[in-house]
Amino acid sequence: MDLMKNFWEMAKKDKKKVVLAEGEERRNLIACDKILKNGLADILLIGNKERIEENAKYLSVNVEGAEILDPETSTLSEGFAKEFYEIRKNKGMTIEKAEKMVKDPLYFGTMCVKLGYADGMVSGAIHTTGDLLRPGLQIIKTAPGVSNVSGFFVMMVPDCKYGESGLLLFADCAVNPNPTAEQLASIAITTAETAKKLCDLDPKVAMLSFSTMGSAKGELVDKVRQATEIAKKERNDLDIDGELQLDAAIEEEVARLKAPGSSVAGKANVLVFPDLQTGNIGYKLVQRFAKAEAIGPICQGFAKPINDLSRGCNPDDIVNVVAMTVVQAQKGI
Ligand code: ACO
Repeated sequence: MDLMKNFWEMAKKDKKKVVLAEGEERRNLIACDKILKNGLADILLIGNKERIEENAKYLSVNVEGAEILDPETSTLSEGFAKEFYEIRKNKGMTIEKAEKMVKDPLYFGTMCVKLGYADGMVSGAIHTTGDLLRPGLQIIKTAPGVSNVSGFFVMMVPDCKYGESGLLLFADCAVNPNPTAEQLASIAITTAETAKKLCDLDPKVAMLSFSTMGSAKGELVDKVRQATEIAKKERNDLDIDGELQLDAAIEEEVARLKAPGSSVAGKANVLVFPDLQTGNIGYKLVQRFAKAEAIGPICQGFAKPINDLSRGCNPDDIVNVVAMTVVQAQKGI
């Protein structure tokens, strides 16, 4: 099954407007052409109009259907600066600093999303993850009831009995380097909600560790146990359990031995990793060794969708992240 094609079809059904803040950049322009041709999203390119048109001409791509805004000349910049100042004044922001900062395409693009000129934003082909996430965290902030932004992958493993016939969500693989127990609990709850909304799954969330139900001790295990307790207490309607080793989480036979009585063990379709190192390594292992389709990292927990690209991305990666961003905007993820 080509999962990404499903998300394309979902995106087309209710198109949203997505900001490409690196609007003058080659891969963004090629992606923009493809997105418009396929009717996946309306696009707002941030950048200098002449340069965008020149670059598009040079690349022989058509971006005429995209809206273009230049932070240097846009009449919106003044209002954006005032609004940004209001949002950040209790964090030491001054109006002079705000005026300067909204000229930065990432801040300008984020303000476009905040104030409803677009439904989401995708960037990161030429900026780091931190450069993109920081304006998102400062301006868009978390969705109501969510305390933490994190990054998930939808993993589709071919010929696989684990999860939902090989379909699983992994988190956090992108944002929180070393989450606290509270943050880990929040990641578990948010990913369970994402699994429901995005993939129609009945989420069974495993809080992963090198220990299963007290088989090992130490502060690393304690953190996962504590996170499990917090998550269960906060959302006793969700099926979340831990701490579980990976084999106990996904393999019924091991679950019967190591975690009898757990409603998640052996059936997990959402895997929550204890930190970013394990999350990042974990998804890459499955992607490479099991030849899994790995869609992500997609940010979850923002009040409106903001997504990062790898600096090594190609135009098709950008197209796919934009399609996912549209689906997130549709479903409030
Ligand atoms: N959720 C919600 N809010 C957050 C989060 C979070 N996960 N992290 C930080 N914040 C808030 C802070 O509370 C702060 O709010 P405030 O300024 O209103 O008080 C604001 O965001 C800025 O926080 P800082 O801690 O000052 O920001 P920092 O410079 O540390 O950056 C960042 C945060 C960018 C998320 C950082 O933790 C980071 O770089 N994470 C790793 C990203 C990364 O490299 N990922 C791997 C990419 S590879 C891949 O994805 C496959």
